[in-house]
Amino acid sequence: MMMTMKAWRVHELGTPDGVLRFEDIEVPTPGDGQVLVRVRAAALNFPDLLMIAGKYQVRPPLPFIPGVELTGEVLETGQRVVGSPADGFGAFAEYALMDEAEVWPVPDAMPDDEAAALFLTYQTGYVGLHRRARLQAGEVVLVHAGAGGVGSAAIQLAKAAGATVIATAGGPDKVAVCLQLGADHAVDYLAEDFVGPVKEITGGRGADVIYDPVGGDVFDASRKCIAFEGRIVVVGFTGGRIADAPTNHALVKNYSVVGLHWGLYRTHEPALISDVHDELSRLYAAGSIKPLVSQTLPLADAPQALAALGRRETIGKVVLTP
Ligand SMILES: NC(=O)c1ccc[n+]([C@@H]2O[C@H](COP(=O)([O-])OP(=O)(O)OC[C@H]3O[C@@H](n4cnc5c(N)ncnc54)[C@H](OP(=O)(O)O)[C@@H]3O)[C@@H](O)[C@H]2O)c1
Repeated sequence: MMMTMKAWRVHELGTPDGVLRFEDIEVPTPGDGQVLVRVRAAALNFPDLLMIAGKYQVRPPLPFIPGVELTGEVLETGQRVVGSPADGFGAFAEYALMDEAEVWPVPDAMPDDEAAALFLTYQTGYVGLHRRARLQAGEVVLVHAGAGGVGSAAIQLAKAAGATVIATAGGPDKVAVCLQLGADHAVDYLAEDFVGPVKEITGGRGADVIYDPVGGDVFDASRKCIAFEGRIVVVGFTGGRIADAPTNHALVKNYSVVGLHWGLYRTHEPALISDVHDELSRLYAAGSIKPLVSQTLPLADAPQALAALGRRETIGKVVLTP
């Protein structure tokens, strides 16, 4: 007998509250090397918005189910696992396919929503800070949009690595969140230029590592407060403008602009993802990191929740449960 499920599907590109349709569709059948999972929690990410608008590097054929990370229960074994859906999207549904080689076990003590939130943004943060920026204990890390999903993970991971953390965020409430997350200093970058405070805090030296998911004007200003031998990690462009990186400036100030595309490690170095998952599980068990899940909502609320993410209204991670 055919099994059906509820799923959000995109039939035309646009905004989440405009184009997402909640439909009854057939539960997918696993292909070779795939497992069918019942979705227990799916976390929202900014790339969902880009994908739904057709502005992401991955452009799925229409119609498609968005959602790039989930906690699932493997139907055959009952095991709880975390990861991305098999195609890289498809989590906003009651069931999803995952590649057998790309599911990671969820420690027993970890709730579903925290597990879903511990994957993409923390993997990105860990690889960005340790692998790409070669962060050393005692260095100063500036994390932009620190109260967001990617930013909140980076604050915790940088602190866990023994860094001093300065965060930026839009508005006093988000600044308070950054401090609660463990940032040593936080600047409301909508109210004041962050360059002056970063220089003051670092005695004029600037930040050793700048973790930038915003881009545009925030990237331009970051170049003014990067330290000698500093690394600016280009994580994303939520601000909407892709800034240019003048090579003469990198030479004169002796810093690096480092690109980060975590998803490429899925094909280039899959073993790294497993190693990072083990390390994240260890840091979670030790109490050094804990995803900030600000809202856990029913799957039916996906369009409104995604729209709030696009309006800059969300804190940490928002998770959907079918
Ligand atoms: N490179 C990679 O491998 C990788 C992996 C995952 C995600 N990313 C990228 O990381 C970025 C953050 O993703 P996320 O899911 O964690 O999102 P998020 O941080 O939860 O939300 C985006 C944040 O960006 C800030 N922002 C600044 N200008 C904005 C604007 N004009 N519109 C909306 N937000 C604005 C907002 O914080 P304030 O209000 O505090 O400014 C907002 O909270 C995205 O660009 C995403 O594509 C990259």
